Amino acid sequence: MFQKDLISIHDLAAPDVTALFTLAAGMKARPRDFRATLSGKILAMIFEKSSTRTRVSFEAGMTQLGGAAQFLSARDIQLGRGEPVSDTARVLSRYVDGIMARTFAHQTVLDLAAYATIPVVNGLTDLLHPCQGLADYFTMSEKFGSLKGLKLAYVGDGNNVAHSLMYGGPKCGVDVAVATPAGYEPDATVIANARADAAAAGTTLLVTHSREEAVAGAHVVYTDVWASMGQEAEQQKRVRDFAGWTVTDDLLALADKRAVFMHCLPAHRGEEVSASVCDGPRSVIYDEAENRLHVQKAILATLMGRS
Ligand code: CP
Ligand code: NVA
Repeated sequence: MFQKDLISIHDLAAPDVTALFTLAAGMKARPRDFRATLSGKILAMIFEKSSTRTRVSFEAGMTQLGGAAQFLSARDIQLGRGEPVSDTARVLSRYVDGIMARTFAHQTVLDLAAYATIPVVNGLTDLLHPCQGLADYFTMSEKFGSLKGLKLAYVGDGNNVAHSLMYGGPKCGVDVAVATPAGYEPDATVIANARADAAAAGTTLLVTHSREEAVAGAHVVYTDVWASMGQEAEQQKRVRDFAGWTVTDDLLALADKRAVFMHCLPAHRGEEVSASVCDGPRSVIYDEAENRLHVQKAILATLMGRS
């Protein structure tokens, strides 16, 4: 059973994820059947960081479900001038039916959820990107028919997207391998939690510095930017530290014959991925982006359709 909020895939039970994917598939196949699902409901969308996919897909999703969404740049609302997160959460709870937030500190989303009486959805923090991870496993299920026994290899920075993919594997029956350069490993707590989840689910989690070991036999080869939002000052250093870590055709050749390439986008062709892989026949990047819409509609309907 879903909790009030969607903060982390780690908090979900495997059957919750299955139910979400079934609903998302129905919404994707028959969008007209869900035109009144959130009739009259309003989602407030707080953004401390830039966004194309998250902003547009959440707003379009709310409209398609019969509701509405309000874009709130943190620069424009009082939160950006120091109004407490707790007051922001309590006040928004009096006006709207749900909050989606993209923040720097993960604690900000946790605090919003703690003080809001309405559902809060994590639209990316420095630590996690659960909507992305869920949409990616949904995309993987479409491409391969079933998820059980598949292997996902993440190559690059041990960042928010990597963390959510690590949490998603055990919930979906997928083995996860994460390869990073030394010094860019995933968060130690996330590794420990994901390892425990994997042990309980009977899946595996490998964290390594070997790209080749991670990619061997993988069904998905995934990468993300080397410098995430908020790390712009480190861009030059990271380009140096990640030299040789570009996902190329040669690396992809070590994966399973049916392997697909995934990236949450935005992508930097020539940095974390070569243009020939990103725009090549194995790439499913636009399917991933589309599925953000369907999976998030399922999340919104599940959390906001209760009352
Ligand atoms: N993948 C993703 O979340 O994209 P945006 O930053 O454009 O929302
Ligand atoms: N890791 C990236 C993901 C963007 C969707 C970032 O946080 O900037």
